[in-house]
Amino acid sequence: MYKTKIAGIGKYLPENVVTNHDLTKVMDTTDEWIQERTGIRERRYGTKHKESTTTMAARAAEVAIERAGTTKESIDFIIFATLSPDYFFPGCGVLLQRELGITNTEIGALDIRNQCSGFIYALSIGDQFIKSGMYKNILVVGSEMHSMGLDFSTEGRNVTVIFGDGAGAVVLQPSDDVSEILTTKLHSNGTHAEELAFINPGCHGGYHLGTEQFGYPDPNTYGGIFLTPKMVEEGMIYPNMNGQFVFKLAVQKFPEVIQEALVSQGLQTTDIDMFIPHQANLRISQFVQKILKLDDSKVWNNIQKYGNTTAASIPIALCEAWEAGKINKGDLVCLAAFGSGFTWGSALIRW
Ligand code: ACO
Repeated sequence: MYKTKIAGIGKYLPENVVTNHDLTKVMDTTDEWIQERTGIRERRYGTKHKESTTTMAARAAEVAIERAGTTKESIDFIIFATLSPDYFFPGCGVLLQRELGITNTEIGALDIRNQCSGFIYALSIGDQFIKSGMYKNILVVGSEMHSMGLDFSTEGRNVTVIFGDGAGAVVLQPSDDVSEILTTKLHSNGTHAEELAFINPGCHGGYHLGTEQFGYPDPNTYGGIFLTPKMVEEGMIYPNMNGQFVFKLAVQKFPEVIQEALVSQGLQTTDIDMFIPHQANLRISQFVQKILKLDDSKVWNNIQKYGNTTAASIPIALCEAWEAGKINKGDLVCLAAFGSGFTWGSALIRW
């Protein structure tokens, strides 16, 4: 059995900075409200017609590939985590392959739909493939173009102010030294799937929530289930979130899944050199930090600058912490995420 290391890491943030003040021009909100509840000061938005979830991922991937000392043509598998794909299908994995100009058709591309915990799931899958010896150069990315799917009216303010765009990527390779992904822990509970969800357009046919709500035609007819005029008119085409419900579960599941990983390796919270939480909300991260009794110098938060970039938030933060010299060879790095599904997970990495 092989060991897996993160051989290279990269990130990409669009240039366009959107401050809380900018958002007050289009919806009824304030800088004070946003900072107090979420810690966010500004976020980045991609540029329409010029950038997409895939192109941002490609820019982050190019950096990760170069830092891994490898080439695009040597990548033998792609794992792409996002909740804001360019297309309903095909997934971003193959679009990234094309964008990077990888013409090697021997490789595979896999799309991960686990929202905020998407990167942890993707990392875990990549780890298993390296360990088994099936692949030797796996590109794992998290990328999100939230800004093109949000409701910028006041009705959508509780969700819209939180999210931002960006991408992060790593290259996984077999390790022959101390560097190693020690463990990953993955969990899910679909009971409350709709509490944090982007439901339409979808193929649910009104099954979960009642047909009338969506203005469907007669259920005995075919077609017309993807997007009805009623959905558009009533704004049922945006993400919805029960914020307080999410908050309460998140602060419970983050510590649980981190402890689970630590215990499985015979480690303790005091062994953690750097904790990179999914950047959901600064208040959630601070709550978890307090429970884990971690010093400020051992936690990396950047939601203040980028907002919540869902599947991209962990690789962006990991990359930023590494670029800042805060993660060194042999350090114990802990990643953890909780999000829509609900799904949650953690990873322990000996850097
Ligand atoms: N600006 C101003 N006022 C707002 C805004 C806004 N952007 N959004 C909501 N409000 C108002 C509401 O309308 C409400 O007004 P009312 O009291 O007159 O009815 C009031 O603020 C309080 O609303 P709540 O939703 O109860 O506010 P809460 O304190 O719960 O904060 C928040 C909302 C920030 C979403 C919080 O619940 C939260 O962070 N939850 C965790 C969810 C999360 O982190 N999601 C990230 C994505 S999921 C993930 O990554 C895990």
